[in-house]
Amino acid sequence: MNWSIVSKTAMGLVAATLVAACQPHDPAAKAGSDTAASGNGAAKTYNVAMNANFPPFESTSTNGEIVGFDVDLMNAIAKQAGIKITYKNQPWDGIFQTLTSGDNDILISGITITPERKETMAFSDPYFEVKQVILVPKGQDVKSINDLNKLTKVGVTTGTTGDTAAQKILGTTSPKIARFESLPLVIKDLQDGGVQAMVSDSAVVANFIKQNGDKGFSMVEVPDFPKEEYGIAVRKNDTDLLNKINDGLKKVRDSGEYDQIYSKYFAK
Ligand code: ARG
Repeated sequence: MNWSIVSKTAMGLVAATLVAACQPHDPAAKAGSDTAASGNGAAKTYNVAMNANFPPFESTSTNGEIVGFDVDLMNAIAKQAGIKITYKNQPWDGIFQTLTSGDNDILISGITITPERKETMAFSDPYFEVKQVILVPKGQDVKSINDLNKLTKVGVTTGTTGDTAAQKILGTTSPKIARFESLPLVIKDLQDGGVQAMVSDSAVVANFIKQNGDKGFSMVEVPDFPKEEYGIAVRKNDTDLLNKINDGLKKVRDSGEYDQIYSKYFAK
């Protein structure tokens, strides 16, 4: 494989590369390798997957399009990197395995970089910082980890770092931890009076409070929870793709586009 020719071909296609978020998945562009071009010279389209249940990073608009910070950022990176992408909405549970199965090539989904996850996937440079926080209905007195321990049910999304954080406090097998498949389901249970608190990423909880100010929820910050960084994940051996993503991310930061996208979603 002549990589310099491949990358020139890819660069030449930059102008035509960006694929709209609503573009249907093309099964002919089956993933599974890091090859930037297929045999006939057409640029490969990378499948980018996310669990679009996590606003403002990814959610589905009323017309079914996947939108959010991660989509805008990934579009900007793809443009800078000269790669063609298409988006897929994927359940959170099992999303990491879709890289190894070859169903997807890139995951951007508010994914926290952790040492365990680094064993099976490669991560880009960090692109966002959060920490775990607690969302409670106003009046629910949770100010510390100790207070969290006194509650009977704490909701998390299965397999998230919020799940891990809750386990650290309440115990790995604690019956107090109520696990849900997605963030909207945890929030619904909290609103219905099921769980008394939820543990999730600060930027997502803050966004929920901003959107639902009148519904009387508040965010409790616990100093014991460490900071976390989001990264874009690819297969461990897709070094060429990872380098392109990192270069793209750097250009998006240097050009000021990152800041523009940031203020679109996180304006005060
Ligand atoms: N940052 C957390 C984690 O990596 C939660 C991510 C959930 N993302 C999503 N799109 N549902 O575990």
